[in-house]
Amino acid sequence: MADRQTRSTTDVVVLGAGPAGLVLGNLLQQRGVDCVVLERAERAHVETRARAGFLAANTVRILERHGLAEGLRRHGQPHSVCEFRGADGRFRLDYSGLGRGERHTVYPQQQLVSDLLTRFLASGGRVEFATEAVTVLGSGTERPSVTVREADGRPGRWRARYVAGCDGRHGAARRSLPPGSVRRHHCDHGVTWLGLLAEAPPSLDAVGYAVHERGFAGHMARTSEITRYYVQCERGTPADAWSEERIWDELELRMRGAEYGPLHRGRIVRRGVVDLESDVLEPLRHGSLFLVGDAAGLVSPSAAKGANLAVLEAEILAEALVDDLVHGDSGGLDTYSARCLPYLWRAQEFSHWMIRLLHGPSGSDGTSLFHDSLRRSRIASLRTSRSHQDWFAEHYAGV
Ligand code: APR
Repeated sequence: MADRQTRSTTDVVVLGAGPAGLVLGNLLQQRGVDCVVLERAERAHVETRARAGFLAANTVRILERHGLAEGLRRHGQPHSVCEFRGADGRFRLDYSGLGRGERHTVYPQQQLVSDLLTRFLASGGRVEFATEAVTVLGSGTERPSVTVREADGRPGRWRARYVAGCDGRHGAARRSLPPGSVRRHHCDHGVTWLGLLAEAPPSLDAVGYAVHERGFAGHMARTSEITRYYVQCERGTPADAWSEERIWDELELRMRGAEYGPLHRGRIVRRGVVDLESDVLEPLRHGSLFLVGDAAGLVSPSAAKGANLAVLEAEILAEALVDDLVHGDSGGLDTYSARCLPYLWRAQEFSHWMIRLLHGPSGSDGTSLFHDSLRRSRIASLRTSRSHQDWFAEHYAGV
């Protein structure tokens, strides 16, 4: 195997150039810690891949703290209203006046990733694009290495002192964990969404959550010309199964367009089916290998927590790595997992609560109808109880 030159012991190899990997890379680079980001996709794909786009106030604070918020400050849109629609009517919550008074910033993730990438490269950071990490070897030692498949198919190997797994739930970091080294907590919520990106202006000035007997529908503005929609569908539905006309008719019906105003229609430019699942790995570390972002735990998109957790965990790990590699203090690394897991579980709990709030009965048996009555009672409480609204705002806008 044609080995790459051996890296010095102060290196960190970061797997993945998503929010987690690029925030981590930038923070290490800023503090003089040598690192390299290995990314299996081409740069153009990384910079155009539409993902989330709903940044919590704490995420903006983290990015501002490290001088990484210029783009989102210029182009991000503040957002603080969500609207619930259902058989019992509709109501709006302006959560900037509730809970801790925080709001979101809507900023398409591909723009944030592009900003982070540009900044990292401009400051001398290195990204090996089209380079797929295959296996992390020796994670239980102080000399881990990462075998890679390079752009031309050649095998390669990177040696490091630490490896940060920021390569998502299907990445090499998770695959390389020795059996029994971590526990995986997993939940399949039994719900499937067809995620859509439409070339159409937003139809509401709010994040829309519609609960209908035919299923859930969601509306989230991305930009003034692009809107994200979700429509619940049967598990196993292929992404291209529904015609555009059927999609818009179904969205209109579930969002009660006849009652509250028609949706702005347009060309659907991207589709994807997502089974709502969640998982958490414990601990988030095995020896010299650390898990960050989706690699640490997958949060369902019901409350848009994934990218926000990724940024939070990346900052915590960056500080711990700098303390160890620059100051010789490994305390932060030893507590990395214990510090991140409470945030991860809080996000999982709220996302799970949102899933239960937004999806009607899965059947017509007594238990399903009982749970649906619970759901309608929760919605009614959210509509009328200020303390419940404060609780919702704190968890919805917070991380
Ligand atoms: N080798 C190298 N790169 C890899 C590998 C691999 N074996 N496997 C995956 N990757 C890359 C992907 O191409 C992607 O660019 O790792 C990156 C992972 O990025 P994300 O999936 O965005 O994960 P993360 O940074 O943890 O961000 C999590 O952001 O994408 C949103 O909301 C989404 O919850 C998610 C959040």
